[in-house]
Amino acid sequence: MASDSLRRLAADFKQFLAAQDEEDIIPAVAPKRAAAVVSVSKTVNSHALPPMKEGETLTVEFVKATPKETVPVATTENAMNTAQKTKALEELAETIRNCSRCPLGSTRINAVPGEGNIDTDVMFVGEGPGFDEDRQGRPFVGRAGKLLDRMIAAMGLTREKVFIANIAKCHPMTDPLHPEKHGNDRAPNAQEIACCRKYIEQQIAIICPKYVIALGGVAAKSLISDAKSLSALRGRFYNLHLDSVELPRPVQIIATFHPAALLRNPGWKKDAWNDLQLVMDALGLKGARK
Ligand code: URA
Repeated sequence: MASDSLRRLAADFKQFLAAQDEEDIIPAVAPKRAAAVVSVSKTVNSHALPPMKEGETLTVEFVKATPKETVPVATTENAMNTAQKTKALEELAETIRNCSRCPLGSTRINAVPGEGNIDTDVMFVGEGPGFDEDRQGRPFVGRAGKLLDRMIAAMGLTREKVFIANIAKCHPMTDPLHPEKHGNDRAPNAQEIACCRKYIEQQIAIICPKYVIALGGVAAKSLISDAKSLSALRGRFYNLHLDSVELPRPVQIIATFHPAALLRNPGWKKDAWNDLQLVMDALGLKGARK
């Protein structure tokens, strides 16, 4: 295609994007709206879009430059008090409970927004609810959750002292037609993660913990925005950068193994413990160490 046509196409696409609300540019909706677009394979607000075709086969790459969302968050000058945080998080949880941005919204029993101490220094983020979480509407209450409780206790903390949430807020199932089946859990896919992303970002920005501990590869890759394997990402801190909201102050993130993976591979517990000790050292926690 001649470069003039390409430039025109680029301008059309930029205009198209500028005219859309963020809500309209989720992967499920964008292909139907992208009349001027031949094929898109890059990011819009950093959310991966599926390839789109309209007539030709050219690939166009753009990023929509939208201002970051303003959610009520704490700032050093204007710290949100506990009551304000509670209100903001409860409103967000209500939005999550009513969410149907992706197909998981129609197969869930309960959305699982997350729970815990909203003034905490430590936030744990898993990948998504499983069978038990879907039934109770609470994060990490199944077998993996019991191990997470022990990991938290080993750090010298309790579940009530930290905040626990997930990247995906609804239960991803391999066989959604049979929700009563056990062993039906799967990791959230790219579309589900993209649709849910702003929720975890807003939760982190409102709570603004000192440390986020990403449990497993899905949470680690998504929040560190790096496609490397969990083994390559774990064991060190990163500065957390969010796509849709500004953090009021720096937050560090560290990745470690998901408790479900530790149940399957107990030999990895030593490495997980080393990761948790980095957070304990940073916070001056003595934990349950002998
Ligand atoms: N696994 C997760 O990632 N999150 C939960 O809440 C439960 C199991």
